[in-house]
Amino acid sequence: MTDHKPEVLFVCVHNAGRSQMAAGWLQHLAGDRVSVRSAGSMPAEQINPAVRAAMAEVGIDLAQEVPKKLTTASVEAADVVITMGCGDACPIFPGKRYLDWELDDPAGQGIEAVRPIRDEIKARVEQLIGEIGPADDIRERVRARYAEAARSAGGGCCGGPSAELYRDGVFGVTLYDEVAPDDALQGSLGCGVPTQVADLAGGETVLDLGSGTGGDVLISARRVGPTGKVYGLDMTDEMLEQARANAERAGVHNVEFLKGYLEEIPLPDDSVDVALSNCVINLAADKRVVLAEAARVLKPGGRIAFSDVIAEETMPDDVRADMQEWTGCIAGALTESDFRQYLADAGFSGISITATHDVHAYAHAALITATLAGAPAR
Ligand SMILES: C[S@@+](CC[C@H](N)C(=O)[O-])C[C@H]1O[C@@H](n2cnc3c(N)ncnc32)[C@H](O)[C@@H]1O
Repeated sequence: MTDHKPEVLFVCVHNAGRSQMAAGWLQHLAGDRVSVRSAGSMPAEQINPAVRAAMAEVGIDLAQEVPKKLTTASVEAADVVITMGCGDACPIFPGKRYLDWELDDPAGQGIEAVRPIRDEIKARVEQLIGEIGPADDIRERVRARYAEAARSAGGGCCGGPSAELYRDGVFGVTLYDEVAPDDALQGSLGCGVPTQVADLAGGETVLDLGSGTGGDVLISARRVGPTGKVYGLDMTDEMLEQARANAERAGVHNVEFLKGYLEEIPLPDDSVDVALSNCVINLAADKRVVLAEAARVLKPGGRIAFSDVIAEETMPDDVRADMQEWTGCIAGALTESDFRQYLADAGFSGISITATHDVHAYAHAALITATLAGAPAR
């Protein structure tokens, strides 16, 4: 599942210049880590010769390429659709990422005019590669960042290194009203309190996705009581080590911390009543895989209670592209409409997304609940 290749479709009117150059650059720079296609709403008969020549100068051979017709199927298959002036002709599907690159049109221009367009496209493609993956690179950078955060006693995750964001009720322990006797909560890197909306009952089995130092796991363990069980899942050894030590110190024994990925949850199908997560889904390179995994391990009728960062629709592309901000929870955040769509696609209904507080100029925190189809878990 983690080797899902992002598929990128470049679209312009004639598929004879800009979209061909972009596809050529992405294939050249990312190789087989991405699937690349290009198409045009009114394809020309052949690629602009000045475009071919300009790309040949940088070692990219477009001799075999021909303009192709944009089809609904090609848009549907793509994860990211990048338009360059095709306007209304490009069909819109929910759950895809659409970007529009404003670039000069090389149609009818000589090679001198095409070269700067070619170079600008290269810079945009390099930025795109940093942003879309591959998924394993993003995960490794996220892991390294959180290992460092665990070693440095918490500071510097969601929201960047600013300690004020942790003091001022934007991230971390200050969001919790309840008395927080556990060291686990002192290490919180969350952006809300998912147990507030989880409605946990005695005897339930709970899974905390990306459990960090274990604060939400310990709160949940007390709510489900000795007949219940809470799993914390995290990929970062340094976090797991602290979480286990915190549970031991708190004398809470109905918990188990598992090492693993959100994208490959090490639990059987239909084994969990409630999946929690606190400021973690936004960090995943492919949220659809994570939500499908959550649905797989939940029992029919099981529910989710997440706290997460939600991006405003107006978040600029350069903020989205910034890996530093990605590992700090901002750039990878879904918009509310995408989050709803991805949850629905994974089989959830009764979706509620309630904004709680701003965390960034282009993002806010929210509490998210939904139920998986099927018989009630309890
Ligand atoms: C922002 S911290 C939140 C930790 C905890 N939920 C809290 O509220 O303090 C994100 C945590 O998710 C973990 N994580 C991020 N991506 C993950 C993935 N793909 N698989 C497993 N764990 C992941 C990180 O190691 C880190 O501990």
